[in-house]
Order: sequence, then structure tokens, then C-alpha cells
Amino acid sequence: MILYFSSTGNCKYTAERIAARTDDRAVSLGAEYKSGNFDILPDRGEPLGFVLPTYFGGLPSIVTDHLERAEIRLDDSNYVYTVDTYGFHYGNVAAELAKLLHEKTGREQDADFLLQSVDNWVPNFDLTDSDYVQSALKKADELLEQVISDIAERKRVRIRGEWPAPMHLMMKKAYKGASRTKNFTVSNKCVGCGKCAEQCPLDVITVKDGRPVWLKKRCTLCLGCLHVCPENAIAYTKATVGHGQYYNPKTAR
Ligand SMILES: Cc1cc2nc3c(=O)[nH]c(=O)nc-3n(C[C@H](O)[C@H](O)[C@H](O)COP(=O)(O)O)c2cc1C
Ligand code: SF4
Ligand code: SF4
Repeated sequence: MILYFSSTGNCKYTAERIAARTDDRAVSLGAEYKSGNFDILPDRGEPLGFVLPTYFGGLPSIVTDHLERAEIRLDDSNYVYTVDTYGFHYGNVAAELAKLLHEKTGREQDADFLLQSVDNWVPNFDLTDSDYVQSALKKADELLEQVISDIAERKRVRIRGEWPAPMHLMMKKAYKGASRTKNFTVSNKCVGCGKCAEQCPLDVITVKDGRPVWLKKRCTLCLGCLHVCPENAIAYTKATVGHGQYYNPKTAR
């Protein structure tokens, strides 16, 4: 089983490619979370992969929450690995996952792989820059070939966190601050189609009087709502205006 969390397709595509080549199945953690299926119970000997994006150098809060709620059953017969996708700084995702797995199961993952790809953090990156997007996608594809071979051979390689504890802590605080939904605004381009609400893995959005309304103070900040909007009507602070939208062109939503 390969569990992935993905808002703009990088992790979905990665998990699907690994699944196709290792005769495994890719499972959306976002969909599992939405339907309340938290438990992670691979069969004896079954590999367990996590393909996850990096958020402020760590795990997306929805992933942490999912794993904290889950019953996780693992023993030494399961080959457990992570693939951390990221744009420019991989941070401490693998270390955070190791801590959670250890607390739950008494063991950590066997291997960590890094996959640099398109950075979908649209406040900082202009995703209308097709040269950047195309070259990042090409590089990611090349790296993925090696990652798949390593997984197929059940290689055991662990990576250290990129950042020391104080920096990691600072980034976690920044993530919490940034995840306030009051940072979202909707322009007059909105046609009330509801796609943003459908996309939200936390059901934070509802459409009222033809406009999305964010029902909770915080969310996991996947920005899926912003990237999916057919009218590009959602902004997350002024910084995203003019920076376009992204979805990995190699996989379907
Ligand atoms: C809230 C948020 C924070 C992010 N923080 C980082 C980061 O700290 N370092 C990094 O390299 N990329 C960061 N990214 C980029 C994503 O990790 C990267 O684009 C990932 O491949 C997206 O996966 P997906 O397409 O499956 O959603 C961030 C993206 C989001 C939405
Ligand atoms: S996806 Fe865009 S157009 Fe559709 S309801 Fe949401 S903001 Fe409006
Ligand atoms: S409100 Fe938008 S950014 Fe927040 S979790 Fe839902 S889809 Fe993701």
C-alpha cells in the first residue's frame, strides 16, 4: 500500500508511478481522511509507502492528524519507506514521520527518498513561469526513475532532517500562523461552481449565496481550493495574485 497526500498532483503522480512499477496500489490519504478511514493495517510482508509533500519543512497537519488517529500495524516483515516531494527545501518530513511511527509501532521507516519537483507554494513562486515548471517536472521524472529502482530493490537509506531543531520549530510556528483561513479572499470572477468546496480534504469550505465561505479558522493550507478554481478567483494573501495555478500535468485530478 502506498499512502499519498496530494493537492496539486506531484505526490499522486509519484505514488501512481511507484505503484505501477512495484505492483502496488496508491491510496489517497485525503480521501481516506474525508471518509474517516484512518487505520493503516498492511498485511504481513506488504510494503508500506508514504508519498508526502513538504509543508514549511514538515508534514502537512492533515497527515499528522491522520497518523495520530490511526491504528498502525507494522512488524519487521513490512518494508516501510517515505518519498518526500518538495520544491527547494525538504526540511524534516522524514524525521517527523519517523517520530510518529515510532510512537505508534515501536519502529521507524526503513528508507527515505527525496524528490524535488515543482514548488506549488504559489505565494512565493510564479507558476505562470512555464520554463521553471517544465524544467522542474523533467528533473522530477529523472529522479523518480532512481527512486523507483531503489524501492523495488528495497534499499535502506535514511536521511537526516535538513534543519536543526530551533529552525524546525520556527517553521512549525510559521505554518500554524499561515494556516489561518482569513488569508483567503474571493474575487468577482467566482461563478459559484463549488469546485473549491469539493476539493477541500477537510470540508472547511461551503458555498453560500454563490460564494465560498471558509467555516473554520484554520486549515491544512494545501491550497487545493486556490489551484482547482476554474476562474482562478481565489487568492491567498495578495502574494498569490498573478502567480497562476498548478496541477501536475502527468496525472488526472
Ligand atoms: C503550505 C505549503 C508549504 C510548503 N512548504 C514547502 C517547504 O517548506 N519546502 C519546499 O521545498 N516546498 C514546500 N512546499 C511545496 C510542496 O511541498 C511541493 O510542491 C509538493 O511537491 C506538492 O505536492 P502535491 O502536488 O502532491 O500537492 C509547500 C507547499 C505548500 C502548499
Ligand atoms: S471554485 Fe472558484 S468559481 Fe467555483 S465556487 Fe470556488 S471560488 Fe467560485
Ligand atoms: S480550505 Fe483550501 S487550503 Fe485549506 S484545506 Fe481546504 S482546500 Fe486546502
